[in-house]
Amino acid sequence: MPRLALMSLLLACSTSVTAAALHIRQSDSNGTTTVTIPQRDADRAARKKEVAYRHDNFLYNISQIGNAAAFPMGKIGEERVSAAWDQWQIDRDIINGHIQKDVAQIRQAIVANNGTLRTLDDYATVLYKDQWLNASPLKPALGSLTNYTLDSFFGGERLVRPYSLYKASDKDSKLIDISDEDAKKIAGSTVAELLSANRLFAVDHSYQADQTVYVPSQFNDKYGAPVTALFYLNDNKELLPLGIRTNTGANLTYTPLDGENDWLLAKMMFNVADQFHAQIYHLTATHNVGEALHEAAMRTLSDAHPIMAVLDRLNYQAYSARPVGEAMCFNPMGHWDENFHISQIGCRNFVTEYWPTYGAFEPNYLQTDLHARGLVDEAGISPFKTFPFWDDASEILRVQREFFTTFVDTYYTSDEEVTADEEVGDWFEEVRRGPTGPEVEAQGLTPVASFPEKAAKKVLVDVLTHNAWLQVAHHSLNAGDPVRSSLTLPFHPGGLHKPVPEAKGIESVVPFLPNATASVTSIGFSASFNRPRYRTMDPPRTLAYAYSGPEFLAHFAEKEVHDAADKYLEDMTRLGEKNDARKIEADGMCTGQGIPFCWTAINPSYIPWFFSV
Ligand SMILES: [Fe+2]
Repeated sequence: MPRLALMSLLLACSTSVTAAALHIRQSDSNGTTTVTIPQRDADRAARKKEVAYRHDNFLYNISQIGNAAAFPMGKIGEERVSAAWDQWQIDRDIINGHIQKDVAQIRQAIVANNGTLRTLDDYATVLYKDQWLNASPLKPALGSLTNYTLDSFFGGERLVRPYSLYKASDKDSKLIDISDEDAKKIAGSTVAELLSANRLFAVDHSYQADQTVYVPSQFNDKYGAPVTALFYLNDNKELLPLGIRTNTGANLTYTPLDGENDWLLAKMMFNVADQFHAQIYHLTATHNVGEALHEAAMRTLSDAHPIMAVLDRLNYQAYSARPVGEAMCFNPMGHWDENFHISQIGCRNFVTEYWPTYGAFEPNYLQTDLHARGLVDEAGISPFKTFPFWDDASEILRVQREFFTTFVDTYYTSDEEVTADEEVGDWFEEVRRGPTGPEVEAQGLTPVASFPEKAAKKVLVDVLTHNAWLQVAHHSLNAGDPVRSSLTLPFHPGGLHKPVPEAKGIESVVPFLPNATASVTSIGFSASFNRPRYRTMDPPRTLAYAYSGPEFLAHFAEKEVHDAADKYLEDMTRLGEKNDARKIEADGMCTGQGIPFCWTAINPSYIPWFFSV
């Protein structure tokens, strides 16, 4: 018998409580337990036994895809993991069927184009025109295939995926090599002047230079550069690129003053480095944190605890993500290595390296994080003319916070009542202590950093709101965004298909791009994360419906929670309508966003309320 199964059997036999007598949900989000806090539970003794049973049967195994959150094991843990895989399998079969249909059609279009992609326009037309309508019916984001050569597009992309952007300080002024004369031609000011005027911003991916850590793809057919880049605010407060340095080979600095092809290639090299950062950041900062909180809750909260009901809801399918990643994405020579320059080994090393920071809790509260990087101030005002990410994210967060404020008010009349809830106290302690057991100790796993020490009403609202926000942050980086926006070709290749040039003066960027077959593979891979069917399900599996539907609401006897869920649905639906209405206006910019493409990645009427793979 395998060791884990044996351990589960022993643990299951070691308790006199049987699962049948407990409120054990057989699958996520399907329970009908009416929730209450422990001090109001009519049978506290039975509840304590139930929590003890969960504690002993939901155990920690080693982390997956790098060292971050532990992974579940034990009887209940394994049941959860198995259920999550089955739930994902349904989606996988559907989206794979759609991708296969789309690929068959796109192959005909490529054959009709002499079997190849010869020009940049071929990428935008042959690969996309009337294509991918099954797997990605919303089509690429408006402007993404037509306006990508504009510097305002490139600057705008930093403001919809701002995870690597920060306000520059003195040391950052050396991130590119640019003369005062060139800087003046581009920005009207020298780097030093931009810095002192608070108009200089930076991205630094030079950490990727260490190829013993960020090992290149084992296919040995893709290239990239550990770029650094500076951006500036023009007089209209629009964010524009000043230059990009490759930090490899001839260590060239490219600027908008270079030839069209050289400058476009430099921006594509930036995209290769930045999307590695964004994709593996998403794994570190969203999936792992959400799972760590849920795992700790599974060992400390009763199934009848109101917070458990919320965490279970938000972690529907959650435990499929890392096993699916291990099995078919980050496996050696798997989909990741097939499509991206830095290998799966580099991905794992990134997760391990950045878990203590990107996985930290309080420092990554949305406004705290953006404020620390100089992208908004204490009042939430940004230095940019528009900041589309912040605009959408802060509105969503406001609706989430309102829901959780009512939620916490409903169950706790005072901070003292929160303190008296020993399950919540144990949950906080468990999150802060982190996973235990010989397996995880041998792996050296550390807890989620900077989780609050003690629960109180406001702290609980903060924790629940941030945990819910992480689901949304996930979809700003993964799920439907890559196929529609962040990984669209030709501007966002997973890697260059020729080495980084040693000199300027290239004739075309096309030889650096994936060929027709590799392009279809790349788009198909991105599409496999898309879940277009969720919005047409009844009820929809979208963020707007996170706390609606009879299954979830059956847990709550309190009218306040039902009313708050209705208000949440109404407010999120309104945000969804605003998102749906975006279009490129007469001035070439997207409605209300001030950038030459429409960023719609966190539409509450489209994205799932949970971590989809
Ligand atoms: Fe994900």
